[in-house]
Amino acid sequence: MSNGWSPESWRSKPIVQVPDYPDAAALKEVEATLNGFPPLVFAGEARKLKAMLANVSRGEGFLLQGGDCAESFAEHQADNIRDFFRVFLQMAVVLTYAAAMPVVKVGRIAGQFAKPRSAPTEKLGEIELPSYRGDIINGPDFTEAARQPDPHRMIKVYRQSAATLNLLRAFATGGYATLEHVHRWTLGFVTDSPQGHRYREIADRISETLDFMRACGIDAESTAQLRTTDFYTSHEALLLGFEEALTRVDSTSGEWYDTSGHMLWIGDRTRQPDHAHVEFCRGVRNPIGVKCGPTLDPDELIRLIDTLDPTNEPGRLTLICRFGADKVEDHLPALIRAVEREGRSVVWSCDPMHGNTIKAGTGYKTRPFDRILQEVERFFAVHRAEGTHAGGIHIEMTGQNVTECTGGARAISETDLSDRYHTHCDPRLNADQALELAFLVAEGLKKERADRARPAEGSPPAVAVGL
Ligand code: TRP
Ligand code: MN
Repeated sequence: MSNGWSPESWRSKPIVQVPDYPDAAALKEVEATLNGFPPLVFAGEARKLKAMLANVSRGEGFLLQGGDCAESFAEHQADNIRDFFRVFLQMAVVLTYAAAMPVVKVGRIAGQFAKPRSAPTEKLGEIELPSYRGDIINGPDFTEAARQPDPHRMIKVYRQSAATLNLLRAFATGGYATLEHVHRWTLGFVTDSPQGHRYREIADRISETLDFMRACGIDAESTAQLRTTDFYTSHEALLLGFEEALTRVDSTSGEWYDTSGHMLWIGDRTRQPDHAHVEFCRGVRNPIGVKCGPTLDPDELIRLIDTLDPTNEPGRLTLICRFGADKVEDHLPALIRAVEREGRSVVWSCDPMHGNTIKAGTGYKTRPFDRILQEVERFFAVHRAEGTHAGGIHIEMTGQNVTECTGGARAISETDLSDRYHTHCDPRLNADQALELAFLVAEGLKKERADRARPAEGSPPAVAVGL
């Protein structure tokens, strides 16, 4: 690639959020081993995802991206993967129906193991230890041994990701994703949820549509599209030694792809335009996400876009906005206007999780469901006002019945948080909350559709009078 990029060119740039490995030789050896392993994903799949995201950037699709804040070694079980995928598919069906557009399904999974931290060390009483940076780097226990960065964890992450992806591929194409099954699970949710009556109408319409199609001879037996789906993986490209080791030249196009996941994103803490993370991502041809927080100003965003997507390739960039419910209206319009002014094609996605984290009175880190909803609603409203497409959501969720975010139809309170607070990192939506969010987003998508169907202001009346 031109402009002096190579898989290791990030190494000569300033970098933040890097672990301090005590044994440099061991690190090098692990990276070399990984470099010899097979790719986890294929370049052609990443290209297909990019084409799907290009549709989203044109207003012809919706991106659903979600999964754990951080995957862990301890929770690597088939049930966890299956339960996540089940809720994720349910959300996708509701959104597909409401948007009447394809939903691009991207998990934060099969590689989401590295975490940026606000401080390099953590103090408990008199003891100060390195912060936990995700299972790919060190362990969460507050002991000297666990917190020591260990490069061999990368190998374990590679193998866990391969196993996870293998199961997800089987689910996506082997019958588990059959539309009618997925919808039947949702009907169960609608019946059981205290707020179920609010979702009944959409659910019933989906049922009717499926019945109608079946009557016409279109069902899972006759039609592959109804029993399979395309599912993609993504994670934050934070631990660049790992990403570099999995970066390969695609033999069909001669271009570089990071084969650790289909899509990668750059975090809000590592998006400095002249730093290592941007340098690495600019050279791989995968779709790239950029987290946009309140400290990102419009000029800096344009500079980032110029660096990461100099040819304005549709589907290449997804801007994942995470301002907080109280800030989204202050910050988002200026970013949208700058992007529009420069004629850049991007996907606008809303991460309503990371700007709405608070500490509960009981000491737990939590996120109030109302605030999450509010941020999504305001994100949609800003896009409607600007005439741009609210293209997706990016959420932290699990298929388990955890108590990590407060609120939702089952009204989890601050004192309930201790019941099933399992996250290693940030609080996630549980299965019911995630599906509830999908129904509420569905309402926003329906409004956007209604806007489009209405003729634009100032255009001539549909029926000319007096002719
Ligand atoms: N293949 C279509 C799609 O992925 C329809 C579909 C089949 C689907 N199973 C699904 C959609 C499960 C969402 C969830 O969009
Ligand atoms: Mn998180």
